[in-house]
Amino acid sequence: PKVVFHHHGDTSTVVEADAGSNVMRAAVQNGVAGIVGECGGQAMCATCHVYVRESHLGALPPISEDEEEMLDCTAAPRDDRRSRLGCQLTLGEGLEEVEVDVPGAQL
Ligand code: FES
Repeated sequence: PKVVFHHHGDTSTVVEADAGSNVMRAAVQNGVAGIVGECGGQAMCATCHVYVRESHLGALPPISEDEEEMLDCTAAPRDDRRSRLGCQLTLGEGLEEVEVDVPGAQL
């Protein structure tokens, strides 16, 4: 699956990830700036927060309770429609391609 990370200032990073991986892991493994993944994908740190681009929203899995809680603790403001935790977005099986905007500050 393909993940496109859009950064501030109009640059982007395109990554080919393995099926079964997720958006956070794809970013960390490829050194994508702005996505930390501190908790290792447990939905406990919110440092993998991304804004998913509109055209891909329909393909996303539902938001779990844990993710819902962490989305209120993100460094950058939450967007009601587009904010997700990258670690909760498993790639492959329905999510063959996704484009996300990386928040500016994420520590
Ligand atoms: Fe920690 Fe996603 S990596 S919440």
